[in-house]
Amino acid sequence: MKAKKRVITSGGAKPKRTPTVRKIKPAWVGPTGGTGRPPGPGSPPATRPPAPSGAGPASRPDVAAATGPGLRPASRPSVGPGPRPDIAAGAPAVDLSVDLGRGLVLENPVLVASGTFGYGVEYGEVVDVERLGAICCKGTTLRPRAGNPPPRVTETPGGMLNSIGLQNPGVEAVIEKYAGIWAGWHVPVIVNVAGESIDDYVGVVRRLDGVAGVAGVELNISCPNVGKGGLQFAIDRDAAAAVTRAVRAATDLPLIVKLSPNVPDIRPIARAIADAGADALSAVNTLSGMALRPDRTGPLLGNVYGGLSGPAIKPVALRIVYEVAQVVEIPIVAIGGVTSIDDVLDYLAAGAVAVQVGTAVFADPVLPVRLVDELRDVCLARGLTSHAALVGTALPRRPVPPSVKGAEYRP
Ligand SMILES: Cc1cc2nc3c(=O)[nH]c(=O)nc-3n(C[C@H](O)[C@H](O)[C@H](O)COP(=O)(O)O)c2cc1C
Repeated sequence: MKAKKRVITSGGAKPKRTPTVRKIKPAWVGPTGGTGRPPGPGSPPATRPPAPSGAGPASRPDVAAATGPGLRPASRPSVGPGPRPDIAAGAPAVDLSVDLGRGLVLENPVLVASGTFGYGVEYGEVVDVERLGAICCKGTTLRPRAGNPPPRVTETPGGMLNSIGLQNPGVEAVIEKYAGIWAGWHVPVIVNVAGESIDDYVGVVRRLDGVAGVAGVELNISCPNVGKGGLQFAIDRDAAAAVTRAVRAATDLPLIVKLSPNVPDIRPIARAIADAGADALSAVNTLSGMALRPDRTGPLLGNVYGGLSGPAIKPVALRIVYEVAQVVEIPIVAIGGVTSIDDVLDYLAAGAVAVQVGTAVFADPVLPVRLVDELRDVCLARGLTSHAALVGTALPRRPVPPSVKGAEYRP
């Protein structure tokens, strides 16, 4: 099975399984709750002294001989000018770089998720954005979108529901306002692209192609396909493959396609997207959900339905990453409820090469940068020169039946 290649045992270190008994994590702080906190005196610093110039991946002697999808040593400096800001002078050598394909090499595997970090510029005051692996910007469409009627968000146990409705100023305005700023950044910015038809997606991507500051695209295919009567691209194997193929033909930009968790069996969809030319997959988008008004007279959200995110969805996302990692060769970026280094390690063990942090950023904007440091610390503590050895350690030697077989309900 293809997935065997994912279990990476380089560096001589024996792969270690993530312990099933863990220390208690700090309590989840809801994104809209009263205890949501900006970085204060208790928060670790988000900045470090800049590294000496020339300390980029190509010149680092510590780059491990990691192999496998997404874990090749960086063969060229990643997008953006400037020195590596994430390595303090004299810091021990750990290579956290990740290759997402087509030259998109991230210096670390912690990204921020689309819709939770704006266009990056909004966080410049509180977060050293240059230390992130990459920024996935807000969903971008061909034309401006006003978004859904309010209320658009509500907190839920262990997460939140949102129905923002892809409010954005349209691709022209995004390029005009932000691309120039991104071009001056060291951190790659991946533009999240949405649309209601294949032509929409292709139109946005064509416009982004060749724009300085745009390091790649992430296709949000969890949108209703007007050509298919409102059926989401993401839940239909053929539609998902068709949009991927069309976008692939329209651009040389690195192409990440974002999977939806709202399907009974993700495997054929993931495979079809990979076969259609995606460079990488991200998994997952939000789970479909709803909430009621306090007086129970109807739905709370203006759009009736919303997308559930946060720690509540992590087991679902973990299951999907685990299933997808067994059927595709391309790198997987895990998304869903990351709030701690244990979550990062779980996703790596399940076969992801990187993670995105979403909802948790609202409560703790410096969390993603802290996770980079913590991942480096874990590698050092385990004597690893790269996090590659942590990837895929929980994958089975032989493919297990998909969850759609109802294994969990078997008597
Ligand atoms: C307020 C909000 C807005 C979002 N907007 C987008 C979007 O525009 N495009 C997209 O692909 N995903 C969007 N997402 C989904 C996130 O990128 C991510 O996939 C999801 O929230 C799961 O990760 P998390 O549990 O860490 O939040 C949004 C999520 C939230 C909470």
